[in-house]
Amino acid sequence: MVKTYEIAVIPGDGTGPEVVREGIKVLDTVAVKCGFNLNYNYYNLGGDHYKESGEILPDDVLESLASHNAIYLGAIGHPDVKPGILEKGILLRIRFHLDQYINLRPVKLYEGVDTPLKDKGPEEIDFVVVRENTEGLYAGAGGCLKRGTDDEVAVQESINTRKGVERCIRYAFEYCRKRNKAKKLTLCGKTNVLTYAFDLWERVFNEVAKEYPDIKADYAHVDAICMWMVKNPEWFDVIVTDNMFGDIITDLAAMIQGGMGIAAGANINPDGISMFEPIGGSAPKYTGKGVINPIAAISAAQIMLETINEPKAASMIEAGVVKVLRDDLKSVSAGKMGYTTQEVGDLVAGYIDKNY
Ligand code: IPM
Ligand code: MN
Repeated sequence: MVKTYEIAVIPGDGTGPEVVREGIKVLDTVAVKCGFNLNYNYYNLGGDHYKESGEILPDDVLESLASHNAIYLGAIGHPDVKPGILEKGILLRIRFHLDQYINLRPVKLYEGVDTPLKDKGPEEIDFVVVRENTEGLYAGAGGCLKRGTDDEVAVQESINTRKGVERCIRYAFEYCRKRNKAKKLTLCGKTNVLTYAFDLWERVFNEVAKEYPDIKADYAHVDAICMWMVKNPEWFDVIVTDNMFGDIITDLAAMIQGGMGIAAGANINPDGISMFEPIGGSAPKYTGKGVINPIAAISAAQIMLETINEPKAASMIEAGVVKVLRDDLKSVSAGKMGYTTQEVGDLVAGYIDKNY
């Protein structure tokens, strides 16, 4: 019997729909080649829907998303909606509700892509960040008192549970072993200042490390990580860190791999429903112009196929991406690719179609 995967698609805001369309074009191409079906259910969520209806993410819609094999997301964020409403109400709500406790962000400089780092190339830039995705400063703990007065107090606490920290660190060790490259896992923390939160992280990290004698367990403070990522990115294989640090260092990492146009990520619940997204956001200034790079969304689709256990189809996508980045695109930046968004999708799909 032919396997069918049910995919929930949230094109979302801004350039989200444009890049998702190209991702789906490529997904359909590999599905035909590999003999499985992808059945898409589209969800109209995001800023425009919120402005029209006042609805953010109703409970029944959330439950319906959860009934799929995976979720494919374009972007969330709208220039006319106050920051936080959509991000917390849609993106974070899905991550938390579906317990997608890993945010996996591969950082790979492909051949033919420019990095701002002098004298660094694809050999030196190839690592993965495993970001905790349900706790830390993102948990929403805290509050404020006497808001808007001279006596105002604002508290925002970082929540780190033994269970949450341990499952993230275990995932990172397993991932590092499976990746089978330098076999080095770096904990990114701030043990010299955040002596409660990162004390927990460090103790758990050292404990779990004992079960992985084949993995070199390494530590660096987050500020130093930022420095080394620019100076010696080749030192990194897999980095594991908390939610906030992971958010910050992966924007830096996205720049050294060529930019937001190619940075993809996955929100993973290893025992549940995961969500895949380009990490660049809704890019309002490029919306509707057909100039945005869909490669990040196409690579997110690749990670989706890896995660739902279609590795052959995933590697076909990567081969197409590698080829197009190396031989076709003039630049990975929006408006400078030498092709439209749609043409880049056609190039990747066309390559796969011809070569497999
Ligand atoms: C990301 C984004 C989100 C985050 C925002 C939009 C809530 O920056 O996926 O990195 O901070 O996690
Ligand atoms: Mn971010």
